[in-house]
Amino acid sequence: MFDYQAPSDLLNNRTILLTGASDGIGRVCAESFLNHGAQVILLGRSQEKLESAFDALEPLHPGRVIIHPLDFLQADVADYQQLASAVNEQFDCLDGLLHNAALLGARTPIAYYPEQDWKQVMTVNVDAAFHLSKALLPALERSSDGRILFTSSSVGRQGRAYWGAYGVSKFAVEGLMQTLAEELAETSRIRVNSFNPGATRTTMRTRAYPAEDPRSVTEAAEHMPAYLYLMGPDSAEVHGQALDMQSIARGK
Ligand SMILES: NC(=O)c1ccc[n+]([C@@H]2O[C@H](COP(=O)([O-])OP(=O)(O)OC[C@H]3O[C@@H](n4cnc5c(N)ncnc54)[C@H](OP(=O)(O)O)[C@@H]3O)[C@@H](O)[C@H]2O)c1
Repeated sequence: MFDYQAPSDLLNNRTILLTGASDGIGRVCAESFLNHGAQVILLGRSQEKLESAFDALEPLHPGRVIIHPLDFLQADVADYQQLASAVNEQFDCLDGLLHNAALLGARTPIAYYPEQDWKQVMTVNVDAAFHLSKALLPALERSSDGRILFTSSSVGRQGRAYWGAYGVSKFAVEGLMQTLAEELAETSRIRVNSFNPGATRTTMRTRAYPAEDPRSVTEAAEHMPAYLYLMGPDSAEVHGQALDMQSIARGK
């Protein structure tokens, strides 16, 4: 258990962009970052779900919630550049980027794995993280204490049968994190890490384990100390690390 107690002003004056913010872990992170003072830019593929998040969050945190619908399966380079231009126009800098959105895809042996699922999972889980990181790096560089946090999985650190493109995409996410972390280590104040939240009660988990009783699975809220720590000033020395709840607790 990671018992980090985040002060309520931990993320004051920080602007954080989150992908997959319309549902699951990303939606809970958005709420938690707002509760700790951040201004948030919420990305999601469904305009309707983002508007519903906005309607719930904005009244409690006036002027601190921005929504930006973007379906990574449809997006091209110009869409990512347009997003970066909007961020550059509205904010002095970007202080945090949480790569959280992901597609599960088929859970089938590689021998039968559908080509279309392979392509879609790689597009959402890997390509979008590359395009967003690249487009938003200049805004992150302007922060005095920037963070890029990738979301991993246990199947992206040790290959596991039948997890197909999802597992392979998470290995690629770890590779992108390590590459970027090394490139930025000496030249930038941006800290880059990956975090595996572990089993969490969300739609994705239910899809992956349909027979499981959801009540037996940890709620996303329990992971928030880790996300807050990794997005806030207390993790300034943490860089290039592939973390999970156990390792983050040991490191503190
Ligand atoms: N839940 C777990 O047990 C678990 C364990 C380890 C790692 N993780 C990782 O944690 C992260 C969050 O997972 P979760 O369980 O919260 O999943 P989730 O409930 O399925 O949420 C995934 C989010 O990604 C968004 N997304 C999917 N396809 C997209 C696309 N084409 N364009 C833009 N956004 C898209 C979804 O948008 P819509 O709402 O519109 O679908 C949703 O907001 C993922 O990276 C996942 O791999 C989860």
